[in-house]
Amino acid sequence: MSMSYTPESTAEREAAIDPRSAIGRLRRNAAARRMLAETLLRPEHLVLPLFVKDGRDSVTPIASLPGQSQWTVDRLGAEIDAIVAAGIPAVLLFGIPDAKDAEGTGAWDPEGAVPRAARMIKERAPGLLVVADVCLCEYTSHGHCGTLDATGSCVDSHATLPPLARAAVAYADAGVDVVAPSAMMDAQVAAIRAALDGAGHRDVSILSYSTKFASAFYGPFRDAVASAPSFGDRATHQLPPANAREAVRESLRDEKEGADMLMVKPAGPYLDVIQRIRAKSLLPIAAYQVSGEYALLKAAAERGWIDERRAALESLVAIRRAGADLVITYYAKDAARWLREGA
Ligand code: PBG
Repeated sequence: MSMSYTPESTAEREAAIDPRSAIGRLRRNAAARRMLAETLLRPEHLVLPLFVKDGRDSVTPIASLPGQSQWTVDRLGAEIDAIVAAGIPAVLLFGIPDAKDAEGTGAWDPEGAVPRAARMIKERAPGLLVVADVCLCEYTSHGHCGTLDATGSCVDSHATLPPLARAAVAYADAGVDVVAPSAMMDAQVAAIRAALDGAGHRDVSILSYSTKFASAFYGPFRDAVASAPSFGDRATHQLPPANAREAVRESLRDEKEGADMLMVKPAGPYLDVIQRIRAKSLLPIAAYQVSGEYALLKAAAERGWIDERRAALESLVAIRRAGADLVITYYAKDAARWLREGA
């Protein structure tokens, strides 16, 4: 005797042939599709990275990041107004110094581009949340994220904590709301929290780049800020792409050290990691759609191989669906506009 199920009625027979038809019925109506969207993507979920540089009167387009530029602070005002008008709640500042040295001293110069940009933005648009990336790689002549050890061949994680803390305090002094340590040094969150508290900045939050992979997708960014390591790579402190459990441990460690928000970076290739961290932590999670992810979409769109608007919004909503509260993306301004047009 056969064990297979035999449908009794026509309805059952149809359901057995195409069980998805009952689910799909609700998709036929645009209002129903809108009403039943499980994941929302809005301008308020987006953070725009901004590259600010020393000097005056210059806006330099970044070849590897079409649509993005390096701004001197005196030219940034109109862009800030446009970001506010787009409904984007936050920017993430990266500094590009004129001069670099072995210690990366430019990182905590109160007259560096990041502190000056922060003061300008806070005066012009006090409601815009200012986040400052805290790392030494943009400021060191060797392009590594920290101080080198005695051999000069490897980053000294412990020795890098005071300079990172110093940079974080300099940015807090300039008025940033959030510091975002991205150097992936052990104990950097605890060191920065202690330094901020000690300097009277108890209200400044820490968005830790807690789960940051050693990724090829940072290539265009390193061109943008000239921060590619002059020798070696970042595999000694950034995460191996194959390791999801280790990736979760990094974020949970930073939560214990006092991080207010966690981050997964890159975003698109690591949606599973966002989901795993979401399941283990109650902190807000940001995901960084990095330069290489953006460049892929841009390059395909330029060749007419992909519908840029649909592909970009799909990539962003997927990052939200995986569990990210915030998405840091070079698409923030475009996406905010597309979302408004679509509404
Ligand atoms: C380090 C930093 C990097 C990025 C953000 N912060 C570069 C790196 O780790 O090599 C990459 C961002 C991107 O690719 O868009 N300061």
